Amino acid sequence: MSDPFYITTPIYYVNDVPHIGHAYTTVAADAAARYRRMMGSAVFFLTGTDEHGQKVEKSAAQQGVSPKALADRVVTRFQKLWKVLNISHDDFIRTTEARHQEAVQTLWRTVAAKGDIYLGEYEDWYCTPCETFLTALQLQEGKCPDCGREPEQLKEESYFFRMSRYEERLLAHLEAHPEFIQPESRRNEIIQFVRGGLKDLSISRTTFSWGIPVPGNDRHVIYVWFDALTNYLSALGYPDRTEHFGTFWPADVHVIGKDILRFHTVYWPTFLMAADLPLPRQVFSHGWWTVDGEKMSKSKGNVVDPGEMVQRYGADPFRYFLLREVPFGLDGDFSEKAMVGRFNADLANDLGNLFSRVTTMLGKYCDGTVPRTDTSGQLSAQVERAVQRVDEEMARLAFHKALQEIWALINGINRHVDQTAPWALARQASRRTELDRVMAELMEALRVVTLLISPFMPQTAAEAASVLGLEAGWSTRAGLQWGTSLASAKIAKAKPLFPRIEADERPRPAPKQPNAAGAKQVAQINLQEFQRLDLRTGVIREAEAVAKSERLLKLRVDLGEAGRRQVVAGIAAVYRPSDLIGKSVVVLCNLKPAKLMGIESQGMVLAVEGDDGLSLLGLDRPVPPGRKIH
Ligand code: MSP
Repeated sequence: MSDPFYITTPIYYVNDVPHIGHAYTTVAADAAARYRRMMGSAVFFLTGTDEHGQKVEKSAAQQGVSPKALADRVVTRFQKLWKVLNISHDDFIRTTEARHQEAVQTLWRTVAAKGDIYLGEYEDWYCTPCETFLTALQLQEGKCPDCGREPEQLKEESYFFRMSRYEERLLAHLEAHPEFIQPESRRNEIIQFVRGGLKDLSISRTTFSWGIPVPGNDRHVIYVWFDALTNYLSALGYPDRTEHFGTFWPADVHVIGKDILRFHTVYWPTFLMAADLPLPRQVFSHGWWTVDGEKMSKSKGNVVDPGEMVQRYGADPFRYFLLREVPFGLDGDFSEKAMVGRFNADLANDLGNLFSRVTTMLGKYCDGTVPRTDTSGQLSAQVERAVQRVDEEMARLAFHKALQEIWALINGINRHVDQTAPWALARQASRRTELDRVMAELMEALRVVTLLISPFMPQTAAEAASVLGLEAGWSTRAGLQWGTSLASAKIAKAKPLFPRIEADERPRPAPKQPNAAGAKQVAQINLQEFQRLDLRTGVIREAEAVAKSERLLKLRVDLGEAGRRQVVAGIAAVYRPSDLIGKSVVVLCNLKPAKLMGIESQGMVLAVEGDDGLSLLGLDRPVPPGRKIH
């Protein structure tokens, strides 16, 4: 019964901390994985981190740490986020692990043995943010066509993969398998690209070293995309053809964002063809999120931190919003206004109300026990239809449609409550049988709704299941069938699943990264208010790391006549203690002292979040320490 299902997310670069885009791909893959598990498939769900390459090396250098140290730090941010978002991955792969490096080198050797790798010279352009090779023809006004940033010119010895050899075969595959690239519009784009001709691909670099060495020539490191894509195999134990590998390869679906489609649908399949391995069945490319109508970027300070959203609204509402708001495959816009709107309308009103009114009525009219009676009424047909439709939509990864179907059902059940009016039946003793029947049907409908929402909102579903007294292993394909399994069950008292969020009580801390756009919305102050801040120039005389903290440094700051102060600052990721000695800074001196990791901080050095991490505020010309800033 257990047809295997292998689903993956991209592996995320560790030069950056997780944002809404990463959360989106992962939550979507998680909902699909959970749904398939409920339907009885043997599921393998993989995520992980992409830790090599020039981009990570550069970012680490800017922060004054080794690439591995940077990876070790950032990987925990991803792992923690997946925990709070209830991601149910079966494995987490890091490309710096030995199992992965061996797999990549074996894949390289296999392709080389086929005669598909040769040594040549690469002379063209490279876009580091995209980790992509570009030809002069592809540049748009000298910029990378994908990210708009300036690429660098390379001229170096490089190994090439004979991708051109696979042009015909790839085209034939794309044509014979319309399901390979989803959505359809994306497929046409790739077919056009391949028809334009496939050139051989540079797959090694010599000008930096953070990567997996080319077998037999360790002056070269393997191109980060050749390395990264192989994660889908290495996590299954490749090159060993274990049972695990045999069960799950080829992957059923790689879920990715549209920006990395070409790597997954041109490079990856041709590498696999060269290695005589079967191709994944599908690559599904989702759209991009903007925020309040604008492109998300660190310089704008509008990057949505998923951890913060979970804190504010809960993991389930955030998961629900991501998958409900935008058709999977299209671009969408995130705003907290829309998030609160969905929360109140769909979760608090529709689902939350249904659950609480039905369980409350059961308490009142049936003493909290589900009547044992026939339930084959009108609701059963509605539920069965919804289950069927959700199944069809989930097979196409149309999460928004699946959720629409579930909500159509929830609203249908709410209407059924209004129409059958159990409160009126309860007033007439002669209608007891009818009342029992209505209540049993409503409870059965709640049970199936609980199962249907479980892939999207696992915590809420677990809470609902516990109120309904469902037994462990409640979320199964068989459980989706209408029946009488709740008969005689004693139902616990339910707390509201989603207390409404009132607009003015919405928790809204100040934006984390103040910015030009944000400044407009901040309340104005007068000069006296500004002068309450005792801001002074200071010079750092001593700096040392704080034990057990990756973030903090303990500083001794010279404030001239005002003496020296101990200040603890969260700048360890960007500054080495030795680089700080003698540096002029701006200090807020009348900040109430506070203890950080047990160490008293008597002020604050000012810093601003730049694109590559924090930057301390300094002075344009030398000024003695202790001068008041006004
Ligand atoms: N490391 C590569 C993937 C290698 S897979 C073998 C990579 N990593 S990434 O961290 O830059 O991005 C990973 C995913 O996040 C991509 O699927 C990308 O589409 C997604 N998103 C990044 N920003 C996004 C939005 N603003 N909106 C939606 N998803 C976006 O690429």
